[in-house]
Amino acid sequence: MTEIVFIGANNPETGRMLAALRAAGDTRRFLGFVDNDPAKKGTMFCGLPVFGGFDVISDWPRDRRFVNLITRDAETRYATSRAVTELGFLHDNFVHPAVDVSGARIGIGVYIQDGVILQAETEIGDNSCINAGSVISHETRIGATNFIAPGVTVAGIVTTGEGVLIGAGATVLPRRTLGSWSVVGAGAVVTKDVPERAIVAGVPARIMRLKPSSEVPNHR
Ligand SMILES: CC(C)(COP(=O)(O)OP(=O)(O)OC[C@H]1O[C@@H](n2cnc3c(N)ncnc32)[C@H](O)[C@@H]1OP(=O)(O)O)[C@@H](O)C(=O)NCCC(=O)NCCS
Repeated sequence: MTEIVFIGANNPETGRMLAALRAAGDTRRFLGFVDNDPAKKGTMFCGLPVFGGFDVISDWPRDRRFVNLITRDAETRYATSRAVTELGFLHDNFVHPAVDVSGARIGIGVYIQDGVILQAETEIGDNSCINAGSVISHETRIGATNFIAPGVTVAGIVTTGEGVLIGAGATVLPRRTLGSWSVVGAGAVVTKDVPERAIVAGVPARIMRLKPSSEVPNHR
């Protein structure tokens, strides 16, 4: 039986997702959490133990899989997923059972919450997270390690690069491209392509600033 460990004991929505998956017949064994906050070690979260930080996993069997729940920012999500990959572990998906993934091609290490709509011929890249109630419209390609906050509308034939964060309630108009490690502010309406590392906000969305290239993974 596949054993699953969660990264990040922060969001109680995990418990609701777990209950829904178990009720839907998910047979995976959900063991508990790893979290680098030392105060959480030995506590319980969502009915499961918090084992400690990444220091405790090094001698675990490598067939245990990890689900990354971290959504603070794409860089932290990237770094935490990579840390377990480098130790030789694989990632697994955590997808709400009510979400219809039949029209989508989804990667590995993907976390999709309740109420998400994935329309026909969409792609969700490895290690990405789509939060509650977001709509990913037809033929849109979401890159790796994206975080799409609750209530986002991404229109059709949009492409996002690696490490993109789209804030709560934002809208991306059709056929736009969001560059790698860019951030779309909450409530923004993206009417133009967004350059790599740009932080945009407002209606219509305007560039507030660029993240320094040294602050994002894989910078050139
Ligand atoms: C756009 C964003 C990245 C900017 O963050 P920041 O650089 O820390 O910005 P600050 O909070 O310092 O605000 C700077 C200015 O931008 C404004 N601003 C911030 N976010 C904004 C937004 N989403 N839309 C419009 N204006 C915004 C602030 O009011 C402030 O204006 P002021 O200088 O006139 O007072 C951030 O506010 C945001 O929207 N993040 C997404 C959050 C989110 O949805 N997370 C998911 C939760 S599940």
